[in-house]
Amino acid sequence: MATLLTTLQESIRYRGGTGHWAFQFHRLAGLGTLLFLLIHILDTSTVFFFPNLYEHAINLYRSPMFLLGEIALIAGVIFHGLNGLKIIVFDIKPELWNIARERTWTWSVYAGTFVLWLPAGLIMGNSIYVNSICRCPAAAIDTGGGSQVWVNVVILTVLAAATIMALYILLGGLSGSGGVGKTFDTRMWQFMRWSGVLLIPLAYGHVLIKDILDGVHHIDLDYVAFYWSFVSWRIFDAALLGLAFAHGMNGLRHVADDYIHDAGQLKALKWLILIAWIVITTIGAIALVGGVRA
Ligand code: HEM
Repeated sequence: MATLLTTLQESIRYRGGTGHWAFQFHRLAGLGTLLFLLIHILDTSTVFFFPNLYEHAINLYRSPMFLLGEIALIAGVIFHGLNGLKIIVFDIKPELWNIARERTWTWSVYAGTFVLWLPAGLIMGNSIYVNSICRCPAAAIDTGGGSQVWVNVVILTVLAAATIMALYILLGGLSGSGGVGKTFDTRMWQFMRWSGVLLIPLAYGHVLIKDILDGVHHIDLDYVAFYWSFVSWRIFDAALLGLAFAHGMNGLRHVADDYIHDAGQLKALKWLILIAWIVITTIGAIALVGGVRA
C-alpha cells in the first residue's frame, strides 16, 4: 500500500513536462471511461435481466450531477481517443517522432479535444437546463436523434471501413515486435493499437448518438427496443462491447503492473481482472442477444 501511494505521489511530482502530463491524462481518461463503461454494461443489461429496474437506473443518469459528470466523461473519451491515435501514429512510424513534434502534436490533441467537446458540452448543457432547471421539455431542441433507418447504412459502412483499416494495420506496418518473437504481451500491445483505431468510429459514434444527439432524457425501454430491432445496431453494440471492454480491462492490467509491486497481489489482481472481464462481457452479450424483455 505504501509503495502504491509513493508511486502515485511521484507520478504527480515528476516534472516530465508535456509528454508526462499527456501520459497521466491518457491514463486517467482511460480508467474513467472504463469505470463508466462497466456500470453502463450492467445497467443496460437490466433491459433483459430486470426490465423494471432499467427505468430506475436511467432516472439516476438524468440527475444534474450525473449529467455534469457525463459532460466531463465526453471530454475524457475525446482526449483519450485523439491522444491514443497520436501514440499509434508514432508507434507505426517511429521515424516521425522527435521531442518537438511530440509537444506540437500533444498541444494539437488538447486543441482538437476542446474543439470537438465544446459543441457537445453546449448541447448537453442545454439539455440539463431544459430538462432539469426550467423543466420545459417542450422547448427541447429536437435533434432528430440517430433513429432514422439511413443511420444503419452509415453504421455498416463505418464498420466495413474500420474492419478494412484494422486488417491493413494488422497485416501491414504495425508489427510491433521489432524483431522480438510474438509473445502474449506483444500481441496485447498490438491489440491495444488496432482496437484503439476501431474504437474511434465505435465509441465516438455511440457517444455522439446516445449522449449528445439523443440524450439520456430520450432513453427508455422503448428506445432500446427500437434500436435493437435493427440487427446492424446489435452488431455495432456487440463490436463496441467486445472491443471497448477488452481494451479497457487490458489497459487496467498494464496500469496494475505499474503500481502493484508485490508479485502475489499482482497475480491475484490480474486473475480478478480476467474473471471480471469474462463475467461482465458475458452478461452484456446475453442482454444483447436476448433483447428487451417485456
Ligand atoms: C476511442 C478510441 C481509443 C483509442 C484510439 C485508444 C487508444 C489507446 C492506446 C494506444 C493505448 C495504449 C497506450 C500505451 O501503451 O501507452 C490505450 C490505453 C488504454 N485505454 Fe484506450 N483507446 C480508445 C478507447 C478506450 C476506451 C473506450 C477505454 C475504456 C473502456 C479505454 C481505456 C484504456 C485504458 C484503461 C488504457 C491503459 C492506460 C495506460 O496504460 O496508461 N480506451 N488506449
